[in-house]
Amino acid sequence: MVEMLEEEQNDLPGSLKIEENRPPILRFGLQEPMQIGNLVLSSRFHLSPLAGYTNLPMRQTLRELGGLGLATTDLINAKGLLMGSRKSLELIATQQEDRPLAVQIYGNDSNEMVQAAQWLENYGASVIDINMGCPVRKVVKGGGGSAMMCDTTGAVIRLVEKVVTGVKIPVTVKMRLGWDDSQLTAPYFAREFEKIGVKALTIHGRTRAQGFHGKVNRAGIRAVVEAVEKIPIFGNGDIRTITDAEQMFTETGCAGLAIGRGALANPYIFQQLNYWWHTGEPLEIVGYEAHLNIMRIHVQRLIEWRGEKFGCIQFRKIAPWYCRHLRTGKPIQQMLVRLETWDQFLSIDQQLRDLGTPKDWHHHSRNEIPVPAGPISHW
Ligand SMILES: Cc1cc2nc3c(=O)[nH]c(=O)nc-3n(C[C@H](O)[C@H](O)[C@H](O)COP(=O)(O)O)c2cc1C
Repeated sequence: MVEMLEEEQNDLPGSLKIEENRPPILRFGLQEPMQIGNLVLSSRFHLSPLAGYTNLPMRQTLRELGGLGLATTDLINAKGLLMGSRKSLELIATQQEDRPLAVQIYGNDSNEMVQAAQWLENYGASVIDINMGCPVRKVVKGGGGSAMMCDTTGAVIRLVEKVVTGVKIPVTVKMRLGWDDSQLTAPYFAREFEKIGVKALTIHGRTRAQGFHGKVNRAGIRAVVEAVEKIPIFGNGDIRTITDAEQMFTETGCAGLAIGRGALANPYIFQQLNYWWHTGEPLEIVGYEAHLNIMRIHVQRLIEWRGEKFGCIQFRKIAPWYCRHLRTGKPIQQMLVRLETWDQFLSIDQQLRDLGTPKDWHHHSRNEIPVPAGPISHW
């Protein structure tokens, strides 16, 4: 009976069927397993931070689907954290299964950054990720966030070095290619960061000036990969499918991928990529209902996390992304972006199930994923 159940489980659509004793493939010559310093990752696919989205309920939901090697919190203000700001504490809410967890911090005061990193190390963070892409005017004006990419005087390197030496856990940095096309400073920073002990970098293949427009510059990411000796680089930007992933690996030589919006569009993306990585095959297509189940679990978790009222309010923000992917149509989207109660959600969920899979629906969405206007557009 137990054996049968196990077999049945393996046959569930979308379940991972990677043989345990399979020898590592060393695809594209990369070492298995991937490591960040001494931290061994179960996959080379990493959730990129999405402020307002990558909270505990989303991370839990994605982790359960498998294939996710490392997840990150939203960006946390180092000063706010040290002052015990309620928002910061909410953003770092975690639990035992939510590991390995990188906590992303930003700030331009090196003492605050070190203290915040030490606090987080004691709290149980697996990795400290320093954000060099924060576009908020207040931060940029003070020389922090993405303005750091213009400062090649050595001050930024010293700030990061203080954080690296202040904690025992690995420190990583996330950045864009540079401020604009005339200042592609990412290779310079990558080289210097490696020298002072940064253990991995995530590179979004656009400049700050580019926002989210235009194509990801894979040659730019490649220049960063070539600038370092051995630390892993996570290529980032616009990965939605296995083909996108393969191109990112082959054209940049990166060691892993960071995926943000693609995970909102298709929560199964990590599982699918990891399966492809280990087997060379695409994973059996996950049906529409399985995607509906994920949305339901996600709403349920948001409600468990913040209570019914605020959980529903939090979901309103995510709803348009789900609606695009699930092709729910405008009327249902209108209801979901005004969601107030769990019962209301259950009735909408039932309507979607009754309507069945939309014609021409595909498990991975190639839809353009809109980026909210405002500071986010320069992350
Ligand atoms: C809504 C939104 C919020 C973001 N928040 C952050 C953040 O807090 N920290 C960060 O380093 N990048 C942030 N980013 C950038 C993403 O992590 C990622 O670099 C970018 O979206 C490109 O990758 P993708 O095409 O896989 O989404 C954000 C992007 C979006 C769209």
